[in-house]
Amino acid sequence: MEKFPADFLFGAATSAYQIEGAVQEDGRGPSIWDEFSHTSGRIAGDDTGDNACDHYHRYRDDVQLMRELGVQSYRFSIAWPRLYPTGRGALNQKGLDFYKRLVDNLLEAGIQPTVTLYHWDLPQALQSQSGGWLSRDTAAAFADYVETVFRELGDVVPRFITLNEPWCSAVLGHFFGQHAPGTQDVRGAFMAAHHLLLAHGLALEAFRAAGLREAQIGITNILCDNVPASDRPEDVTAVTRMDALLNRWFLDPLLKGVYPAEIQEFGVQALTQPGDLEKISAPVDFLGVNYYQRNVIEANPNDPLLGASIVTPSGERTASGWGIHPEGLYRVLRRVRDEYSDLPIYITESGAAFEDVLEAGQIHDTQRIRYHEGHLAAVQRAIADGVPVRGYFLWSLLDNFEWAEGYDKHFGLMYVDYETQQRIWKDSAKWYQQVIAARALPTPG
Ligand code: FCB
Repeated sequence: MEKFPADFLFGAATSAYQIEGAVQEDGRGPSIWDEFSHTSGRIAGDDTGDNACDHYHRYRDDVQLMRELGVQSYRFSIAWPRLYPTGRGALNQKGLDFYKRLVDNLLEAGIQPTVTLYHWDLPQALQSQSGGWLSRDTAAAFADYVETVFRELGDVVPRFITLNEPWCSAVLGHFFGQHAPGTQDVRGAFMAAHHLLLAHGLALEAFRAAGLREAQIGITNILCDNVPASDRPEDVTAVTRMDALLNRWFLDPLLKGVYPAEIQEFGVQALTQPGDLEKISAPVDFLGVNYYQRNVIEANPNDPLLGASIVTPSGERTASGWGIHPEGLYRVLRRVRDEYSDLPIYITESGAAFEDVLEAGQIHDTQRIRYHEGHLAAVQRAIADGVPVRGYFLWSLLDNFEWAEGYDKHFGLMYVDYETQQRIWKDSAKWYQQVIAARALPTPG
């Protein structure tokens, strides 16, 4: 049984809109996800996050669950519209107090808080007034909001993440329109992406200015492993282009201070003011990696924008239709280290939806156990190769509101009965508890 390194953190992750509910409580303002989910036809089953897992009221019990699980760190996000209901202006103290209580509870339970500052729930007022991430001003408003968080929580929170998956905010939100705010415009996606990156850069400035002694800061990107459908040269070229649009679009400006040529083609230069790229590429303390899938890519001359398409994966898939490839996580981790940086890496999300069946109070989710076993083994392999992976935050602690998929897709270690809000331990939760206790994967067979 190979042990994980002593400083390796076993964690679990969630985000505010996906679990909190209580959307009108204690002065919280609406976010773009409230608006989006309340627009008929946007979300499977017209589900909304109005109640979600009611974590806002049940956080103490949820912390207790985590204590029993043995997780060493909990990654959650702060809802910007709880602190600033219209995005800026006067602080809503009650909103901040919720997170203070949560953090205190975690610390009492011996669990390190890992705080994401933006997990997609932009205050709706910023969207209505200035187009949200289409406006540079939103980046400045974000910096003001996070300055408050650093001042109020920076002494007790060891780890901050500026943005979760800016690719998804920009592309799913502004190009495909599947996520809030639900617009479909190529140029809008590039504008949003640049302003999100700028928001990260300004947040870094605010963080360094706060002079916190212990806390660290990083950013979480979703990274895909992209492989060609065949060894035909056109497929290989298509992979390079897709890789620019899926991975390098964000990694290059953050870690090299420059946009890839394929992204520059879209006119990002016009959006970039002097000094932006310096701010965006200022040093972080760690990198967050979310990994869910490998993409098999083939050339597609009929697609004028991408010149490529993603082939439906063969082999085992999750209920989301995502191909299962732990090897892809290993390759992504190697790549980050080999091509970009030897900064510490946290897997800030890894997980899978499956068709869980509740029978006699039990959920035998063996597929999910195998999924995490495979991905944790891939992490061990990367560590053995010298990649500084420092933790694994399993997505997710609880079944929750899976964005456009509503409550249909279950990623949790804990099953949630949305009628009663009862949490039920799946077999995967019991398995994770054992892995954490042993600090090793069980020996096969
Ligand atoms: C990621 C999101 C997270 C969750 C998982 C399944 O892209 O960051 O909130 O929805 O996918």
